[in-house]
Amino acid sequence: MSKRKRDRKHAAPAPAPEKVPAAKKGSLAFALGGVVVIGLVVALFSWPGASSGSLTASAKPAHGEALYNKYCASCHGPNGLGEFNWMNKDRGAPPLDSSAHAWHHEDAQLVSMILDKPVSDSRMPPWRGILSRDDAIDIVAYIKTLWTPFIVANCQGAKHMQCTSTH
Ligand code: HEC
Repeated sequence: MSKRKRDRKHAAPAPAPEKVPAAKKGSLAFALGGVVVIGLVVALFSWPGASSGSLTASAKPAHGEALYNKYCASCHGPNGLGEFNWMNKDRGAPPLDSSAHAWHHEDAQLVSMILDKPVSDSRMPPWRGILSRDDAIDIVAYIKTLWTPFIVANCQGAKHMQCTSTH
C-alpha cells in the first residue's frame, strides 16, 4: 500500500453541502426585516406625541378656563375671540378659537408655545415658571373646547391642510 493511498483513506470527508440554500437565506432576512419594520411602526403609533389629541385626553378644561381668564384673556380676549382689531395691530393677539389658526398646531406645539412663547420676539411673555406643563395642557384642553367639533375631530395639526376655518 503506497503512502499516498493511505493518506487519501484518512482524509477528512468533504464538507457537507450548504444546508440552507441562498434563496431561503434571503427570504429569512426579508422576514426578519419585516418584523423589525412592523415593530418600528407599532412603536411610532404608540408614542405619546404621535397623535395630536393625546396630550389633553385626561386634562381638566375647567381648570384651563380659569387659568385662561386669569392670564390670557387680557390679550386673546374672552372665549379666545382675539384682541379687538388684532389683524390691523402690530403684533395683535390672534383668536385662539376656530377662526384663526391655533388649531394648525398639535397639542405639544401649543403647550411649548404657551410655556416658551410662540416666537422668540413675541409680545406674549413666556409662562414657564408661572404655569406648570400640566397647567398649559389644561389650557390647551380649554382652547380646544372653543373649536368646532369638526375641527377637533378632523383638522388639528398636520391634518389642517384638508380643512378651512369655516368648518
Ligand atoms: C401680552 C399679550 C399676550 C398674553 C397675556 C398672552 N398672549 Fe398668546 N399671543 C400674543 C400674541 C401677540 C401672539 C401672536 C404671536 C406674536 O406675534 O407675538 C400670541 C400667540 C399665541 C398662540 C399662538 C397662536 C397661533 O395661532 O399660532 C397661542 C397658542 C397663545 N398665544 C396662547 C396664549 C395663552 C394660553 C396665554 C395665557 C397663558 C397667552 N397666550 C397670553 C399675546 C399674548
